[in-house]
Amino acid sequence: MQTKKSAQGEWSSRWTFILAATGAAVGLGNIWKFPYVAGQSGGGAFVLFYLLCVLLVGIPLLMAEITIGRWGRQNPIHAIQTIAKEAKRSKYWSLVGGLCLFTGFLILSYYSVIAGWSIEYVFKSALGEFSGATVLSSIGIFHRLTSNLWQMLFWHTVIMLSTGYVIARGIELGIEKAVRFMFPIMILIIILLIGYAMSTDKFTYAMAWLFEPDFSELTPNVMLEALGQAFFSLSIALGTIMTYGAYLPHKSSITSVSTAIAIADTAIALLAGVAIFPIVFSYHLTPSAGPGLIFQSLPLAFAHMPLGRLFGTLFFIMLVFTAFTSTISLLEPTVVWLVERFTWSRLKASCIAISAVWLMGLITIFSFNIWSHVRLFGQTLFGCLDYLTANIMLPLGGLLIAIFIAWKVPENLFHAELRPEKKIIYQGFKFTMRYIVPIAIILIFLQVTGLLKW
Ligand code: PFF
Repeated sequence: MQTKKSAQGEWSSRWTFILAATGAAVGLGNIWKFPYVAGQSGGGAFVLFYLLCVLLVGIPLLMAEITIGRWGRQNPIHAIQTIAKEAKRSKYWSLVGGLCLFTGFLILSYYSVIAGWSIEYVFKSALGEFSGATVLSSIGIFHRLTSNLWQMLFWHTVIMLSTGYVIARGIELGIEKAVRFMFPIMILIIILLIGYAMSTDKFTYAMAWLFEPDFSELTPNVMLEALGQAFFSLSIALGTIMTYGAYLPHKSSITSVSTAIAIADTAIALLAGVAIFPIVFSYHLTPSAGPGLIFQSLPLAFAHMPLGRLFGTLFFIMLVFTAFTSTISLLEPTVVWLVERFTWSRLKASCIAISAVWLMGLITIFSFNIWSHVRLFGQTLFGCLDYLTANIMLPLGGLLIAIFIAWKVPENLFHAELRPEKKIIYQGFKFTMRYIVPIAIILIFLQVTGLLKW
């Protein structure tokens, strides 16, 4: 049994780990995607199916990642290398760690740009730029932002510098302090927004839209969408959970922390829906997913509601915080790898990592303006990057983690780290990792690549 610690330090308690990992998992995906997909795809029926996916695929993968991280007590590449050596498997399994790390790196390059839009919107809202906005002017405001290269570059730089600053300060002084400050404010703002949503006359209508089960909408495609959403929402296969797991105190139960993260992430996705959709319906907006909802429709509602300037500003502050706890989690694996591979200081590793991510982010920024005409496989460069990471690299990483843990690592070694309290949990975990997770991921993969259609 391992009792070693990561050279980077340790979380001060398992609660801080849960907080940091939930901060990593709760992101733009929870606020804009989950509520919309739930409402469109059968409400309560979708939510029930989503919970099943979290239980059968999400929690086991979280458990596997935390186990690998805590067992190896290093960055994902070195952790998997250590475990492969102990299990007498090829050292090339460490490439799985490399894949996860690189996926996180690429995702961070565009996530930072979108997080930057949120900061700009905090100011726009506070300065009353949306007052009296119409559909056209709201779309115009968003397009002016995305076509302004310098403004996007500025906010991308701000996000990267502040993310680098937090990471350079280390686990307790950097990540822990940041999430302890931001997470409660984020929850408080969601509660305030729910309070407002409850006072609107469309609250009951929106709740029915979001939660009333309609099983006829639950088609195989919708089911696969739920599975994919569970996967992405929990930040699986990005190296994040493995790296955060490396700092988990030895005595904490991996089963209970994984369950806590999954419950908190799902609860926040549902609460976001409860806060947003009554507002969307009250102002006769059409629910949509993605940047359209957040940056074009909602500002319209804030423009016309009482105290809209205040609520709008609070909403975008919340968005910045949810995005920021995710950007720090996406940078940490690369920085720790640089520290452990080249024995650099955290400061030096952070500076080099943020410079690389910053440069990579230029592709996303340019693809909205000076390179907007460039098309690869019919998509903008940002579209390609998003497709490659979310639809190909993430599922592939998840599949390889499942194969490695369930098929390649001897059971006794694995059991020693996981230490499940009950035999049934261990049996269930083994079975889902061996069969359910790989089959589910292959199905998502075939669906998102368009190879499988019902
Ligand atoms: N889980 C976070 C979110 O839902 O926003 C972070 C994240 C994970 C973003 C995976 C993007 C992604 F592809």
